[in-house]
Amino acid sequence: MENTINADWGNLPFGYFKTDYNVRCYYRDGKWGKLEISSSEYISIHMAATALHYGQEAFEGLKAYRGKDGKVRLFRWKDNAKRMRNSADGIMMAEVPVELFKEAAFKVVEMNARFIPPYGTGATLYLRPLLFGSGPQIGVKPAEEYMFMVFVSPVGPYFKEGFKPVAIEVVRDFDRAAPLGTGHIKVGGNYAASMRPADRAHKDGFASVLFLDAKEKKYIDEAGPANFYGIKDGKYITPQSKSILPSITNMSLEQIAKDIGLTVERRPVAIDELESFEEAGACGTAAIITPIGKIYDRMNDKTIEYGDAAGPVSTRLYQTLRGIQEGEIEDAHEWTTIIKGV
Ligand code: PLP
Ligand code: COI
Repeated sequence: MENTINADWGNLPFGYFKTDYNVRCYYRDGKWGKLEISSSEYISIHMAATALHYGQEAFEGLKAYRGKDGKVRLFRWKDNAKRMRNSADGIMMAEVPVELFKEAAFKVVEMNARFIPPYGTGATLYLRPLLFGSGPQIGVKPAEEYMFMVFVSPVGPYFKEGFKPVAIEVVRDFDRAAPLGTGHIKVGGNYAASMRPADRAHKDGFASVLFLDAKEKKYIDEAGPANFYGIKDGKYITPQSKSILPSITNMSLEQIAKDIGLTVERRPVAIDELESFEEAGACGTAAIITPIGKIYDRMNDKTIEYGDAAGPVSTRLYQTLRGIQEGEIEDAHEWTTIIKGV
């Protein structure tokens, strides 16, 4: 039995949980320094840091999974590293080399091994890489200094319902990201813009929002902090849009869908098409796969229902994804990396 802390693993929320260590690295004088290990939950940065004033900040989210075989696997970390580079490029931050990202991600899991939730509890160890402009500017321009860090937190699923259908609400009076804005990269500002409509949805009893394309309000963008998919006629259908985050979970599900014989369509998905889906779901690292049971549109006071139980295709996708992440189904696409010695 591995050395693990005592926690109520089965009831863990998707929230912050203090662990022993985090790792940090500083970009100064045009280069990255050495990775440092810290046991402090706090950071010290300049009051004129561009992250604080102008939102020069990006983050990532990935998970380490403890398998039935006791091994710990990191899922598609290289794709998160690449996406963080795209985010850095998009808002002119120093890019974190893939090797540095890897060193930090592996180190922080190794150092916090006792916080990795046991197999079968539904909980996982969430890694939160963070990159931001730490150097001062008053003019609106990129910082000259950056900080990259990774901390971890054991978490349960983002939607407390777990693998049970949730109700979500269409948003027409707020946009999360502009068509040519920053929706395709993982920068903090996108999440700030989503808080007001998400708060309203929560108060109205919905688990999440469904954002539409900002220009025409005709097409589906994404489901809050997760991508959207629909299933019909043997097809896995997911929106093509310049203002959504390219979800690594969604890319994986597209592949799994093909592997199990579905046709995959990535194309604009009109809101009018929602009614024709047999199943719908939200997917992401935090959301995993969350089946969507109902979609409410306040504009016409209309609700589309997909049922109170997860559909057969979503269930198969979920089981296959989890099976690969936990090492029980063959990892044919080499998505997982075992972290040795934990
Ligand atoms: N969309 C948004 C806005 C997100 O924040 C996330 C989470 O990272 C996703 C989609 C899902 O992406 P991934 O599957 O890479 O976690
Ligand atoms: C993730 O799925 O990793 C996310 O980043 C979603 C999040 C904003 C909670």
